[in-house]
Amino acid sequence: MTEEQLVLVERDGRVGVVLMNRPKQLNALSDELTAAVVTALEELDADSEIRSIVLGGGERAFAAGADIQELAASTPIALSESRHIERWDAIRNLRTPLVAAVSGYCLGGGCELAMTCDLIVASETARFGQPEINLGILPGAGGTQRLTRAVGKAIAMDMILTGRLLSAREALQHGLVARVVAREAWLVEAKRVAGEIAAKSPIGARLAADAIDQAFEAPLSVGLAYERRNFALARASEDADEGLRAFVEKRAPDYKGS
Ligand code: CAA
Repeated sequence: MTEEQLVLVERDGRVGVVLMNRPKQLNALSDELTAAVVTALEELDADSEIRSIVLGGGERAFAAGADIQELAASTPIALSESRHIERWDAIRNLRTPLVAAVSGYCLGGGCELAMTCDLIVASETARFGQPEINLGILPGAGGTQRLTRAVGKAIAMDMILTGRLLSAREALQHGLVARVVAREAWLVEAKRVAGEIAAKSPIGARLAADAIDQAFEAPLSVGLAYERRNFALARASEDADEGLRAFVEKRAPDYKGS
């Protein structure tokens, strides 16, 4: 493992793993690191063997935010022209379920990146925050929107206006993370959760996550219609035939992703 590799990529069966690797800067999301993360994720997403992906950092930090040195050197025009924020949309558009594995600091753009994933598995050491207010700015990659949808207005206001960090337990209590795991098990557990997802029908998992995302985009009646359509689509898959038949035949299903 060399420090020059900004991201470390591995394949563990049907699970792809992307680890940000800029430890000296606590994985501050420089333009270069963000681009490398997106490239690695898109490569795994295009691989039909891969059915779920873990995105993580190191033990001390998932990511401590946008790179403040870069931000300090940037201009408003450069920022608005930059593809940096668009890259978050590229992550949102991945089709493979994405599990964030968070240990240590998960701040600013790091927290926004984790919230872009489908779900978050957190070490008990994790600390979540949007401390941009301490720099005279505010979250700029979805924090005011996704955090508010996840934890509600009261906690989002508190975190974003005071810079307060949430512990992993608080993040669980407020609905920001799905699971909190022992400090030494953060990556293993995230891979295990991703492995569970990878064992399901990829079509079913994708359509389910897609329908859940609609809950944040559409009014209830539209979301319900969307869900019904995804349900019918999933039912039309061979994987659905296999899953239903396997239940009746009392055996484990073997999903082909078709
Ligand atoms: N950008 C660039 N470098 C960073 C960084 C960041 N976001 N966070 C940490 N670093 C660097 C530090 O400068 C330091 O580098 P040097 O050793 O070269 O001095 C190194 O990482 C280690 O950091 P600290 O010495 O500060 O470590 P600590 O344990 O004392 O503190 C910390 C850890 C509380 C996370 C602290 O580093 C910190 O507050 N970081 C900034 C967090 C932040 O404000 N994030 C929001 C950024 S703005 C943003 O993200 C905008 C957006 O919405 C898109």
